[in-house]
Amino acid sequence: MEPSSATVAAYSPCGSTAAVCRAVAEGTGLAWDERDLARGTRPEPVDPGTLVVLGAPVAGGAVPALGLERLGRVHTAFSPCVLVCAYGDRDPGHGLHDLEAIAPGLGLVPVAAVLAPVRHVMVPALGAGRPTADDLAAYRSFGAAVASALRDAGGLFDLAPPPLPPASCPRERLELGFTAECDPAACVGCGACAGACPAGCIPADEPYLTDTARCDGCMACIGVCPVRARSLSDPARLAAVRERCVAGWEGPHRPRLVMGA
Ligand SMILES: Cc1cc2nc3c(=O)[nH]c(=O)nc-3n(C[C@H](O)[C@H](O)[C@H](O)COP(=O)(O)O)c2cc1C
Ligand code: SF4
Ligand code: SF4
Repeated sequence: MEPSSATVAAYSPCGSTAAVCRAVAEGTGLAWDERDLARGTRPEPVDPGTLVVLGAPVAGGAVPALGLERLGRVHTAFSPCVLVCAYGDRDPGHGLHDLEAIAPGLGLVPVAAVLAPVRHVMVPALGAGRPTADDLAAYRSFGAAVASALRDAGGLFDLAPPPLPPASCPRERLELGFTAECDPAACVGCGACAGACPAGCIPADEPYLTDTARCDGCMACIGVCPVRARSLSDPARLAAVRERCVAGWEGPHRPRLVMGA
C-alpha cells in the first residue's frame, strides 16, 4: 500500500515529542501536516489511509491522562501508524503500550514504534540536548524505512504489528503531584503561559493564576515564561526527586526503533 500523505498527531506540551514525530514524518518523503493535540479540543479527522505519526510523552511511567484524552481527538479508518513515545531518558515505563492500547479505537493500525529519549523537562541533568542531530537523523532514516515497508506490502494487514520493547514498570501511573505556580510580582502579563497550557488552567485575562486542581505539572507554562515567573510547587520535594533520578540514572539511552516484519 502507498500512503498518500502523512500526519503528525502529537500531544507534546513542551515540544520534544513533536520534534521526534516531525523527523519521522520528514523521513517518509511524503507530504505531511501536523495536528497540535496539546492545544485545542476539537476533533481532528484524518483521511483514511494516511500514515499517522502518533506521539505522546511519558510522565510518571505512563502517558498522562490528559494526553490520552487529547489523542482521542484523532479519528480515521484503516490508517497505518507509527507510535512515538518520548521520555526524559530515564524510564519509558509503559508509555508505548498506552499508545498501542488506544490506537485501534482511533482507527489506527500500528506498523512501527519509536521510544525516543528526549530532554527531561523536570530533571534538567537527564536527556540534556536530546534529541541530538544524530537522534533526528535516525528518526528520519526510520521514517524512510517505514514508508518503504508500506510500499512493499500488498495490504495494510500484511505487516506484522511492531514488537514493542517490554514495559519497564507495572501498568499504573505514578502521580508526582507537582503543580505550577506563579509569582504575580514577576509576571508581566504577556499571556504566553495561558496559550501554552494544554489543560486550560491559566486564565488568559489573569495569567498569574493557576487552577491547580486541573494542572498536571507538565511544565509547558514554565518553559515559555520570558521572565521565569512560573515554577513547580514544593521546591524541596522537587530537589529530592531530581536527586533520586540522577542517582539512579542508567543513560544515556539510544533511540529504540521497531517495525513489524
Ligand atoms: C510530571 C513529569 C513526569 C515525568 N516522568 C518521566 C518518567 O517517568 N520517565 C522519564 O523518562 N521521563 C519523565 N518525564 C520527562 C518527560 O517525558 C520529557 O521531559 C518529555 O520531553 C516531555 O515531552 P514534551 O516535550 O513532548 O512535552 C517527566 C516529565 C514530567 C513533567
Ligand atoms: S499550568 Fe500546569 S498543566 Fe498548565 S502548562 Fe503549567 S504545568 Fe502544565
Ligand atoms: S508567561 Fe510568565 S510573564 Fe507571561 S503571563 Fe505567564 S507568568 Fe506572566
